[in-house]
This record gives sequence, structure tokens and C-alpha cells, in this order.
Amino acid sequence: MLRSLTHVGQDPVRGGYSRPVYSTAELDLRSWFREQAQRRGLDVETDRNGIIWAWWGPQQDGALVTGSHLDSVPGGGAYDGPLGVASALAAVDLLKARGIKPARSLAITVFPEEEGSRFGVACLGSRLLTGSIDADRALRLRDSDGDTFADVARSNGLDPRHVGPDPDALARIGDFVELHVEQGIGLGANGPGIAVGNSVLGHGRWKLSIYGQGNHAGTTLMSDRADPMVAAAQIIMAVRHAAARQPDARATVGRMIPVPGGTNVIASRVDMWVDARHPNDAVTAHLVEEIHGRAQRVAAEEGCTVKLTEESYSNTVHFDASLTGRIGAMLPDAPMLATGAGHDAGVLAGFVPSAMLFVRNPSGISHSPEEHVTDADADAGATALANVLAGLL
Ligand code: GLV
Ligand code: MN
Ligand code: MN
Ligand code: MN
Repeated sequence: MLRSLTHVGQDPVRGGYSRPVYSTAELDLRSWFREQAQRRGLDVETDRNGIIWAWWGPQQDGALVTGSHLDSVPGGGAYDGPLGVASALAAVDLLKARGIKPARSLAITVFPEEEGSRFGVACLGSRLLTGSIDADRALRLRDSDGDTFADVARSNGLDPRHVGPDPDALARIGDFVELHVEQGIGLGANGPGIAVGNSVLGHGRWKLSIYGQGNHAGTTLMSDRADPMVAAAQIIMAVRHAAARQPDARATVGRMIPVPGGTNVIASRVDMWVDARHPNDAVTAHLVEEIHGRAQRVAAEEGCTVKLTEESYSNTVHFDASLTGRIGAMLPDAPMLATGAGHDAGVLAGFVPSAMLFVRNPSGISHSPEEHVTDADADAGATALANVLAGLL
């Protein structure tokens, strides 16, 4: 099914796919999903937060819900998100072919801005649904063009006054199951191609702005500079070293913007983002404090100052033991697997019983064009999802 989408949002510069939320590419995928769902006789609606719901059976509280996202990171792979959505559609086909009549309604959901690639906060749709982010703060988030989420939401048919916690929609989710491409090498080549997710690593994003003195690259003596790029380079090394000293920690600077960004200009400011993760939330907090302290010191040595702002944080999540146990019993060959990646299922887990299935990624690489899933594993994933849904209905 995903093969029909290979042309959507290809990124000729970065390689892979760039499908930020509400871009032409992501909107095309949302239209594709609506059409596929309608073709299957599902009732499609978009809620006040832009989450698409496709219903098999009447809208009712306590339904069985499955789904994922269609937005991507810049230059991402084909599977992170769309695999879970396409597998949900394929699972409905399998259940219908088996003549199953759901005892409770089943819905497929598509969550917007799972990656946070456009507005900076990952899982924005599920955070809004559950009230895990303040709606006013969300509406003020800006993309790299300076457009606010409120403006973008409005131009995509949402009413900003109604964006935010949606207890009625949340009550419709009795159990949530998200199928996702595995994002590491947790499933070996010779074993089973499917795993059951048991936890999501705690993770957060911090913006670090370094302020210096913008100046001329030719007229400013090396001894007279307050260059925030020089501080940034040392801070990146400090992030690496701080995380490397802490077992099980991961910390990354994947995005940095020098302002104004000219070859012959000493920058006046650098914005960089730190993504930090560890199973223990207190350790993550400590790691970020350590990075902040080191950043202040190296910035001062360069005549610069720094400002650190937390943009989002998600605690380590352990999926519902009872739901995960039931799913494990339905898929006896599938190992239990923890993930270092964030997911809407992780946000929802704080509110409703949630679980995940992972499909083998033979490259072990994700958030990159090299992410991969074989056709055989994708089919096995859809079948496993259908079996799980049948068992939970
Ligand atoms: C999203 O996939 C994340 O883990 O940041
Ligand atoms: Mn992702
Ligand atoms: Mn994802
Ligand atoms: Mn994710």
C-alpha cells in the first residue's frame, strides 16, 4: 500500500521524505488516508485538534483504536508513521475478509505533528487531545517561517478557539494499539519480525540560544570576537561527553541555526536544540543541568551568554501491563522490546491502556532515508495487528 505513496514528499535535497505537518505532502497523505478509509466504508471525521478518525461501527466510548502518523522528520524514511496507518487499513481488510463483525467499534486515527518537525513539540496532536500541553502555548508555537500554529490550524479548517483538551474524543479510546517500524536493531535477521513494545524512553527537547556580537569576518581581529558559533561547537562536544559518561543516556544536537547566517558574518546568535533521553527522568534532568552549566562556562570564555528553554518533556512510559500481556499472549513468538523513540501511544498511555507493535527494520536505521521494512515483514505486521485487534474486539 505504501508503494503508491513513494512520490509524496520526496526531498531531492536531503534525500528521503520531508512531510511536515500540514505541508502539501502531509495533506496529500491525509487525503489519501481519507479516501482509503471511505473506500472501506469507514466514517471519516477530523476532530478539533486535526486528528483524523475513521470509524468501523458507530462512534462510541471505549472503542478499540489503532493508528499512527503521516508527518515525517526532514529527510526521513518511508515507514516511520505511514507503516502504522497503512497496516491499520490492511488489518481492517483482513478482519473484513475473515467475516469479523466487531463487538465494539474500531477506529483508525492519524495524529498530526508526531515528529514536532514543524512546530517543535513532538506528539502535538495527542498532547492537545489529552491536555498534556497548554492549548494557548501550542497555538503560539511558530514554524521556521514564523507562522503560528494558530494560523496554520485556521488555514487547515480548525477553529483555534476549540483546539485543546477533548475529553469526549479521549473517552472514545478504550484501548489504543500503535504499529510502528522498529527504529533500531532490536529484531535480528533470523528471529521473529514483530515485537511487542513495553516501554518508551523518557525524552525531551531544550532550546539553547547563544548570544554574541555580530560583526565583520574580515575586520574583526580574532582576539576581539564574541562568536557564538565557536561556543556552539564546544557545547556540542560537551553534550556528547556528558551523555557518553552516563550509562543509557542519549543526547543529540541535530539542529542549529546561526543568525543571521552569512559566510562573511560573525553570527550574533546561534539557536541550537538538545534532544536528551534516559530511562530515569531525574538523570535526564541532571544531564541537562550539566550541559547547561558547561554551556554557560564555554560561552562566558568566548564573551557570549546562553539561555536554555525546555520545549517539551515526556516521562519514561511503561505500557499497560494487562493490555501488553494480552497482546503478548496473542503473539507468542514476538519478543518484548523497549524503544528509544517517542510515540503518540506513549502520550496516550498516561490516559488510556495503550500498547505498541514493532515491525523489523533490517537497516536498524531510522529518521533517515535508509530506514527499511521488507514486504514480507510489512505483511506479517498487518496480520499480527489484525490478530491483535480481533483478539481485543
Ligand atoms: C520521534 O520519533 C522521536 O522519537 O523523537
Ligand atoms: Mn519518528
Ligand atoms: Mn513515528
Ligand atoms: Mn516518534
